[in-house]
This record gives sequence, structure tokens and C-alpha cells, in this order.
Amino acid sequence: MTMSLRDSVHQLFSAAFPGETPRLCRAPGRINLIGEHVDYCGLSVLPMAVSREIVVAYAPSASDEVTLANVDPAFSEVRFANAAQLEPSPDGAWDNYVKAAVQGVNDHFRVAKPPGFQAVFGGNIPGAAGLSSSSAMVVAASLVYLDVLGKRIGEDITRIELANLLAEAEYFVGTRGGGMDQAIILLGKAGHACKIDFGPLRAEHVPLFEGHCFVACNSLVKSEKSGDMRHRYNAGPYTARLIRALVEKQLRTDYDEDIALANLGDLWFGPLCMRDSEVADLFDATFPTDRMTLKEAGHRLGLSEADLRKRFIEDLCEPEGGFRLKARARHILTEFGRVEMARDLLLAGDDPEAFGALMDASHRSCAEDYQVSCPELDALTQAAREAGALGARMTGAGFGGCTVNLVPEANLDCFFAGVEKAYYRGFLGMAELPPDAIIVAEAASGAGLL
Ligand code: GLA
Repeated sequence: MTMSLRDSVHQLFSAAFPGETPRLCRAPGRINLIGEHVDYCGLSVLPMAVSREIVVAYAPSASDEVTLANVDPAFSEVRFANAAQLEPSPDGAWDNYVKAAVQGVNDHFRVAKPPGFQAVFGGNIPGAAGLSSSSAMVVAASLVYLDVLGKRIGEDITRIELANLLAEAEYFVGTRGGGMDQAIILLGKAGHACKIDFGPLRAEHVPLFEGHCFVACNSLVKSEKSGDMRHRYNAGPYTARLIRALVEKQLRTDYDEDIALANLGDLWFGPLCMRDSEVADLFDATFPTDRMTLKEAGHRLGLSEADLRKRFIEDLCEPEGGFRLKARARHILTEFGRVEMARDLLLAGDDPEAFGALMDASHRSCAEDYQVSCPELDALTQAAREAGALGARMTGAGFGGCTVNLVPEANLDCFFAGVEKAYYRGFLGMAELPPDAIIVAEAASGAGLL
């Protein structure tokens, strides 16, 4: 699979740019085992890089022109002139992911005369499936461009610096996430999951359970980042900013002094060093009722609705009766706890059932408290548990895309058959299991030159 992808990228490059000898690089997709929608609060996550990847063949060009081609005919050839300030292409255009990386690297190194390059992209990460094909594209493009500039990872920039830079740079495409995807794509290790902490960014590699594997099942509901989906995608980070401001305000009341929180993670890791139970009490005091209207939030913070929008939630629609901030805060607290326990369980290595129970609890919390699941993901996780998974949960931003399932290797055949019957044939009414719908995720190493 991987060889033929690399070959086809190489071949298309030779056909499109005859006479040039390309260099090659790769960036893997990722699957998040646990720790959903907490990275942008500065809280830890536990993903792994997977063996599905984006591969790029590229060469510097003599001018400032960037030419991008893709082995997938759905992505047509694009050209643009490289410049210190790049204009985004229309919403949804694939070159925006490349431009995001180029702009980020140009800004970081203050590149005065940004050079051009030719690149052919190819990939086998299912798209819009919550496996981070878009961040893999951004990371791959950054490796291409760094090489074109003669910059070396480990000498001119560290992997940690690059991950931080790209997490910010990806906002070029208009979606706001945390730093998990870029970090795991750059810091993954074969055979291992990776506990990622933020502020400062750190990666701890932890071994996987012996005799068990993580399996991705695609709900086949597209989890797009662009277009109309952008609102749903940005809702998490934007409401988390509002929660942070309201909690900060509550701290001022409780302690009678200003305690600035860069993000909610500062409650645990900042000067307060709070325990989980103290954070739970603080959240209860901040959010006495389930919902909070914008009017009420504005009143508490002494801000007009226009200011609230500008600072925190931008153009998010206010749900009937207000935002469910209490439940969202509860998810952030409980999910962080589950990540810590999941990491300990992987390190101990002897209780996959307990890890599976954490995955199930994480899915419930994502669905009920954070409301980022959908009927298909709920049905698919249910089918997976009935087919022998020790744990099943949505992975990535949600609203579709994949689930991640912990399955004993000895039960894999039953698992495939059970999920095919209950979900793909039963729930979706399909005649057969579509190719690539169920993938055994092998933990791969981070992105690099080939
Ligand atoms: C997307 C974002 C990540 C993270 C997840 C949810 O994948 O890019 O940073 O927030 O959603 O956990």
C-alpha cells in the first residue's frame, strides 16, 4: 500500500515536471485514543500517528511560482506566486492547507523573498474522517517548504517549535483547533501512543497493549472542516474561551484578586495548582444552571453582546435558552481525568478492559455533555461494543468521521463481521462493507523526509 502510494506520487511528478529529480517526504494521519476537545484548553490528549499518510514529491523552482498537483483527480492543479503575505484561496480549496504551512514558515523565518517549488501530493488517509488528513497535508507541506528553504528540522527548528507554529498557522484555513494534530503528526513513534501535554508542548511515548489493537471504523458521515461545517467545528474552541472568561471572573469573586487564565488548563498547571475536586467546585459556582444566555454572560463580564462576540464566540448562533456551558465545562474536567488514567493504564499494560471503559465514558461525555456526536457515531460505537470491542468512542472533532475501538486481536474477525452486519448493512442499509471503512490502526512514526 505505502510503496505503491510513494511510487504513484513519484511517477506523477516525473510526468508533470520532466527533467527534475524529486525529493520525497511523508506525514502520517492520526487517531485520538482519548482526550477529545480538551487540547485547545491546554489539557493533555492521548493520540497515536497511524500508518496511513500523505506523501509529497517536490523540487525547488527557479522562480517564486508554486505549482501543486495531486494524484487524486478530485484535487486539480493549482499555481500561485509565493509572497510574504499570501491570499487564501476560496473556502474549501485544497491549496489553502499548503498556503497555511508556507505562510507560517515565512512568518517564522521572516523570509524576505519566498521561493517557489513544484510538488505532487498523494495520500491514503480517508478524507473528512476525523483522521487528520488536512493537518497531515499542512505538516507535509511545511516539510517540503523547509527543505526548499534549506532549513533542517533539529538544527534550524525543533519538532516542538514546528508543531506549535503549525497549530497557529492552520488557522489560515479558517478553522480553530488545538495543537493535538500537528503535534502527534510530528512527534509520533511507531508502536506507541503519545501523551501530549501543552504549555509547554511535551510528548511522552507510551507502549500499546499487547495482543490488542485500535481499530478505526468510518461512520461514512463526512466530518468536513470547511464550508458550512466550520461553525460546528469552531464552536468548541470559541465556547471554551467564553467558559475561561467566566471562570476567571468567578476566581476574582472567590479570591478577591485578578488571576489571569491563558486557558482552562491553567487551573491545574498555573499558580493555583487546583485539584480536580476544586475545579469541579469552581465550575459549579461559575455555572449554577445548565444554560447561560449571551445576555447573562455579558452581564457577568460587563461586556456588550458585540464585545462578547468579538472576544470569544464570534458569529456562533446562540441556542434556544442559551449555551450549555455547565455541561461543556464538565466534559473538559472529566475528559482530562480520563486521559491521565488512560495513560497510566497503558503504562501498566495489564488492564485493557479498564481502558475500554474509559473510552466508553469518553464517548458518552462527548455525546451528552459536549454534544459533538451524531446518531451514526452513537450507533457505530454501540455496534462495536456488541461486536466485542472493549471500548468504543468517536475520535477527532466529531459530527461524523471515525470511531476508535479497542479490540482483542483474537476477536478481530468477529469484530469486523459484527460491525459490518449491525452498522454498515443494518443501520446504513448498505449491500456490503465499503473498502477502507474499517482500518486496523498501526501506530506509525512522525513525519519526515524520505
Ligand atoms: C480537531 C482539532 C484538534 C482537536 C480535535 C478534538 O481534530 O484539530 O485540535 O481539538 O478536533 O479533540
